[in-house]
Amino acid sequence: MALQAAALLPSTFSIPKEGKTSATLKDSSLFGISLSDHVKSDFGSSFKIKSGRKSSLGAIRAETMVASPGVTNTPVTGKKTLRKGCVVITGASSGLGLATAKALAETGKWHVIMACRDFLKAERAAKSAGMPKENYTIMHLDLASLDSVRQFVDNFRRSGNPLDVLVCNAAVYQPTAKEPSFTAEGFELSVGTNHLGHFLLSRLLLDDLKQSDYPSKRLIIVGSITGNTNTLAGNVPPKANLGDLRGLARGLDGLNSSAMIDGGDFDGAKAYKDSKVCNMLTMQEFHRRYHEETGITFASLYPGCIATTGLFREHIPLFRLLFPPFQKFITKGFVSEAESGKRLAQVVSDPSLTKSGVYWSWNKNSSSFENQLSEEASDVEKARKVWEVSEKLLGLA
Ligand SMILES: NC(=O)c1ccc[n+]([C@@H]2O[C@H](COP(=O)([O-])OP(=O)(O)OC[C@H]3O[C@@H](n4cnc5c(N)ncnc54)[C@H](OP(=O)(O)O)[C@@H]3O)[C@@H](O)[C@H]2O)c1
Repeated sequence: MALQAAALLPSTFSIPKEGKTSATLKDSSLFGISLSDHVKSDFGSSFKIKSGRKSSLGAIRAETMVASPGVTNTPVTGKKTLRKGCVVITGASSGLGLATAKALAETGKWHVIMACRDFLKAERAAKSAGMPKENYTIMHLDLASLDSVRQFVDNFRRSGNPLDVLVCNAAVYQPTAKEPSFTAEGFELSVGTNHLGHFLLSRLLLDDLKQSDYPSKRLIIVGSITGNTNTLAGNVPPKANLGDLRGLARGLDGLNSSAMIDGGDFDGAKAYKDSKVCNMLTMQEFHRRYHEETGITFASLYPGCIATTGLFREHIPLFRLLFPPFQKFITKGFVSEAESGKRLAQVVSDPSLTKSGVYWSWNKNSSSFENQLSEEASDVEKARKVWEVSEKLLGLA
C-alpha cells in the first residue's frame, strides 16, 4: 500500500486519477492582488554547527546577524556567519517551489533541499533553471504517502544537514475531478497531500528545527487567497468550508465517510480550498503551541496569482488559455513565477519578516504586509480541532 522510497531515487508510485472532465469556469478563483517586491537580504549569523550533527554545508563569506526571533520584527545587528542556511522546500520541481529554490540558491547563502516526488523532473528543472549545483540537493518525498514522509525525515537526518527553514509548498489541485482520488493511506488526495502530508512532515521535523542554531528558524506553510472567504477570490464558488470536520474525523476515505472535510459531496476545487484553510490554521496553531517555547517563526503567505504554474494542469484547456491573460489584463493580479519565488524567498530569509503567526501578502507598492485571514481561517477553536483530528488520523496522538 505505501511507498518505501529510497533516498535520492525517483518515485515509481503514482496515484490513480479519475474523472478529469467537464470543468466549468466556476473556479477561476486564484486572483492575485499585487505587484512585485524583491528579496531584500539573507540571514547570516555567528554560530557553529552543533556537535553531533555534521553538516555538508560549507562556510561562506561574512554576513550580518539578527537577534533571536520574537513575536515582533527583529533588527539586524552586525555579526558574522559561518555557514549557509539550510532550507527544505517541498514541491520544488516546478512553479513557486522551483522559483524559490532558485532565488535562494543563487544568493550563495542557502543550501536548498528540494523535496520532490519526481527526482528526475526536479533534477532537470534545477539544471534548466541554472541553479548552482553546489547549492542544492534533491531528496525524494511523496506527500501522498505517509511512509514516504517518514522515510524522507529519516533520510534527511542521515544526510547530516541542519534544518533551519522548512517550506511546505507542494500542492495538488483537481478542479475538474468528478470522483475523488486517494493517497496511499486512503485520504482524499488534495487534503491528504496538501494538509495531512505536510502536517506529518512538519510535526516530525519540528525537533530538527528546534535543534538548529541558525539565527532565525522558520516554518512556512504556503496558503492561498482562495481559502479566505473575506476576499473576492475566496467567494467564488465553491467556497472553502470545513464545517464541523465530520468528514476529516472519519478519515476522508469516501467509503465509511465523505471524502470532504465537512462531510459533503466531493468537489475537487473545494477540497483544494479546504486544504489551504487547513494549511493556514495549522500555521497559527503551530505559532500558539510552539513559538514562545522555541523561537521558531511560523508564517503563511499568499504569493499572488501565479497563473502559469502546473497547479492548473488539470483544468480544462480553455481555462488554462484564458486564465493568464485574464489575470494580467483584467484583474492585474498576475505574478510571474520568478516574482513569486522572490516573495517566498523573502519570507524564508528576510530579517524584517521574523514575526510569527503572520499571513503575508504583497500590495501594489510591492511591499509585504500582514494580511487578514477570513473568520474560518483564523478560528482558534477550529485550528485546535484540525490539529487534534489530524494528529489522531496520523497516529501522532
Ligand atoms: N499558482 C497560484 O496562483 C497559487 C496561488 C496561491 C497559492 N499557490 C500555492 O503555491 C504552492 C505551489 O503551487 P504552484 O502554483 O507552484 O503549482 P505547481 O507548479 O503545480 O507546484 C506544485 C508542486 O507540488 C508538487 N507535488 C504535488 N503532489 C506532490 C506529492 N504528493 N508529493 C510531493 N510533491 C508534490 C509538484 O510536483 P510535480 O512537479 O512532481 O508535479 C510540484 O512540484 C501551492 O501550495 C499552491 O497552493 C499557488
